[in-house]
Amino acid sequence: MSVTILGIESSCDDTSAAVIRDGLLLSNVIASQSVHEEYGGVVPELASRAHQQNIVPVVDTALRRAGIAATDLSAIAFTRGPGLLGSLLVGTSFAKGMSLGLRKPIVDVNHLHGHVLSHFIRRQPDDIVPEYPFLCLLISGGNSQIILVRNYNDMEILGRTIDDAAGEAFDKCAKVMGLPYPGGPHIDRHAANGNPGRFKFARPHIPGYDYSFSGLKTSFLYTLRDNVALDPDFIAKNIDDLAASLQRTIIDILLDKLDKAVKATGVKTVAIGGGVSANSGIRAAIADYCQRRGLKAFIPERVFTTDNAAMVAIAGYFKYLDQQFCPYDAAPFARVGV
Ligand code: KG4
Repeated sequence: MSVTILGIESSCDDTSAAVIRDGLLLSNVIASQSVHEEYGGVVPELASRAHQQNIVPVVDTALRRAGIAATDLSAIAFTRGPGLLGSLLVGTSFAKGMSLGLRKPIVDVNHLHGHVLSHFIRRQPDDIVPEYPFLCLLISGGNSQIILVRNYNDMEILGRTIDDAAGEAFDKCAKVMGLPYPGGPHIDRHAANGNPGRFKFARPHIPGYDYSFSGLKTSFLYTLRDNVALDPDFIAKNIDDLAASLQRTIIDILLDKLDKAVKATGVKTVAIGGGVSANSGIRAAIADYCQRRGLKAFIPERVFTTDNAAMVAIAGYFKYLDQQFCPYDAAPFARVGV
């Protein structure tokens, strides 16, 4: 019998629903919330309200595009955390209500596991998925982690950021340059035309596999101060070089620890995931690094790098196979490791 999972994602500012049948993606619908743009960041209360408005049409569209009725579902998977509590409550409560109405079980998914397992989403039956064990570099607005993935239910965080995440380094430096939020994609665009060797920024010296990005942020700010006291004309004239140099530094920091972890674990496969893995420079650098070292690289489709329910559905699918269901009194959680 085939297994059909509805995934629901509402951890931050994207409302998403997806249907996966036996590991194959049937639909993935994402409603992004533009309401936050004028505030320069996500406003939690506005996010929860937008999720409430979006969730019924988004789930309805996902089922329709998949060509299935709600009664065909085997289970409903939802993101339980980490994320914004109010946003998570919308998806969690909706999943519970739908589950009670349909008499289908619910499966709770850790958002970070979803990012890691997004590499197992197949569009075609013969799509290639990673072999265990592999290392996943999980880089997003809130996390920077190196995870040793032994199995879908056996992951170990080898290193994590001790301060800012990689996405925060992109976003905060972009803000200093007057770029809109989130700044990551804008840096990516400017970096494509810039000279990455033009400016030198501080690199952390942290033992082990942990990351640190707050020193880079400070040194970026001081570079601008020293040069021209944050003169908008200087920034405008040099924005491509600033972006390229910043991006190059972030890539070097990420690869330095990743390389250490690859050597120590002896894995043959490296994957990346999370919003920052949409970055063109990082994608190219990982592909190049893996090619030079004879490793297999898994670089996600861009639609699976940001928040999406397809990754929730695939993680829920694995848990469903293990019959790991979630009780109705399970509350969402805002913070967690992996
Ligand atoms: O995983 P994600 O959607 O959410 C959170 O962790 O909240 O990641 C969002 C992050 C933001 O910091 C954004 O600037 C960054 O991903 N991002 C990028 C790019 N696209 C998104 N950073 C660099 N280059 C990009 N192309």
